[in-house]
Amino acid sequence: MLVYDKTNILILRKKNFMSYILAIESSCDDTSAAVLRDEKILSNIIITQKEHEQYGGVIPEMASRQHYSNIDSAVDKALKVAGIDKSEIAAIAVTQGPGLLGSLLVGVSFAKGLSLVLDVPLIGVHHMHGHILAHFIDEPKPRFPFLCLTVSGGHTQLVKVLSPLQMEILGQTIDDAAGEAFDKVGKLLGLPYPAGPIIDQLAKEGKPLFDFAIANVADFNFSFSGFKTSVLYFLQKEVAKNPNFITENLKDLCASVQHIIVKTLEIKLIKLIKQTNIKEVAIAGGVAANSGLRGRLQELSRLHDFNLYIPDLQYCTDNAAMIGMAGYFKYKAGIFESHEMTPDPRLVF
Ligand code: KG4
Ligand code: ZN
Repeated sequence: MLVYDKTNILILRKKNFMSYILAIESSCDDTSAAVLRDEKILSNIIITQKEHEQYGGVIPEMASRQHYSNIDSAVDKALKVAGIDKSEIAAIAVTQGPGLLGSLLVGVSFAKGLSLVLDVPLIGVHHMHGHILAHFIDEPKPRFPFLCLTVSGGHTQLVKVLSPLQMEILGQTIDDAAGEAFDKVGKLLGLPYPAGPIIDQLAKEGKPLFDFAIANVADFNFSFSGFKTSVLYFLQKEVAKNPNFITENLKDLCASVQHIIVKTLEIKLIKLIKQTNIKEVAIAGGVAANSGLRGRLQELSRLHDFNLYIPDLQYCTDNAAMIGMAGYFKYKAGIFESHEMTPDPRLVF
């Protein structure tokens, strides 16, 4: 049996003993499982669903079916690579939300079942907290408080991180996320889903020759939906004159799109650094893998004298290691969920 004190803090059964945490992430289209020994990542298995490529976006029903087929093998492999048996697991951390309901349901149900069988605590993790706390996997780690630009397929936020368990959103997108902007514009350019990494590659050989309008919204918020429309109208006009316009200019179009998205992000980030005077700055989420964004922010960190933290590429896009890291902080603080926990597609930050 687990032992709790009056404040619901778990009294670890074996004091000073290392704890293995199994982490599961299934919020979108990657089925991932990881094992941590305390804060050290021992394994991080990611099974990416390629099936969505041809549809230009994630098909929710297909994603949950794929998670259902993949989850057993992802967890088995994570345990095998870590060299541990299920019976050694001290806690299970799982993404509770936000994300696609059917996808989250597979991970949460699996985690709940296993935690009941093993009689170990269950930890619910906010997906975006996971992205941010991925910064604590490797050195150098940011010092608190730090600012984090979290840019993924579903979110674009500026967050003030006071501690692993205390974060505050200071700005966010009012419509599309930055990753969504890459993917939707990529679709207009005829690229498969997800287009973000492909635009990144093609942009390296192109020049930002084309200019597109992007809305400038108040405070530290962002807006990307008008940008997509402005690219659409521009392409319609040019293709009417020259049907091969996109293929003939693909690299320059990609460089232009990337340039504008990066510029939009950097303007608000720099404004926030100046206003808060916080010199510890991190980026997280799938779009943090973008070489243009990484390079530009490195330049800006020298120019404006701030310390920039960028996660290793494997921890930018969705992965269970980051969920394990966030889970580890909750484990240390004794914050656990009951087995009534349900996935929440709109989980509050
Ligand atoms: O964080 P993530 O794996 O999933 C979500 O939580 O949404 O982010 C996925 C997003 C996709 O929109 C994808 O196109 C974008 O991250 N992405 C990139 C790059 N790698 C992934 N966008 C631009 N450049 C990249 N290298
Ligand atoms: Zn994500």
